[in-house]
Amino acid sequence: MNIAVFASGRGSNFSAIARAVKRGALKANLSLLVCDNPKAAVIGRANRAGIKTVLVKRQDFSSKKDFEAGIIQHLEDERIDLVVLAGFMRLLSPEFVAQYKGRILNIHPSLLPSFKGTQGIRDAFEYGVKLTGVTVHFVDDELDHGPIILQAPVEVEERDSPGSLEEKIHKLEHRLYPQAIKLICEGKVKLEGRRAKVTTL
Ligand code: GRF
Repeated sequence: MNIAVFASGRGSNFSAIARAVKRGALKANLSLLVCDNPKAAVIGRANRAGIKTVLVKRQDFSSKKDFEAGIIQHLEDERIDLVVLAGFMRLLSPEFVAQYKGRILNIHPSLLPSFKGTQGIRDAFEYGVKLTGVTVHFVDDELDHGPIILQAPVEVEERDSPGSLEEKIHKLEHRLYPQAIKLICEGKVKLEGRRAKVTTL
């Protein structure tokens, strides 16, 4: 299975996936990084890991449609089977999502449907929840929404700060995302209406 990771920033999940592929825990080809931000640290990570990167800047295209057509061209050139969003700070259009239906994943740093949006960790902390976590889900037309593949909890302890909670969540993300991708690669995830059915036997 050929995978493309889409990322706009730091890229720690990209690296976790790349490591899982390298050590053979995830039997897939990490073929491509799609990045929309020339300053993103993830570009250096991909270079060091020897993974092809395409930089696709929104401002180089006159419309979102053309921007996405540019991305799709790269996906087709690399025969990408699975799109893995890892901190990609753009909402994909319904047309893009329809074209790759059931083949786009996202990771979100909360137990969805709670605390959607870009500040999921901080919002959960400020709300005062005792339990938060990480969700990997298929992408649909709504932000941080779609059939859930895996979720795992993180306890918010009294001694936690937003920073320490963030660390715990990222650590869990780096384990959960490769695990979810592995399940997909092994054909153990089936979409049934609104649900993603996961067989682990
Ligand atoms: C992660 O917390 C992920 O859940 C969210 O964006 C963040 C990306 O972090 N969607 P990184 O760039 O992979 O380090």
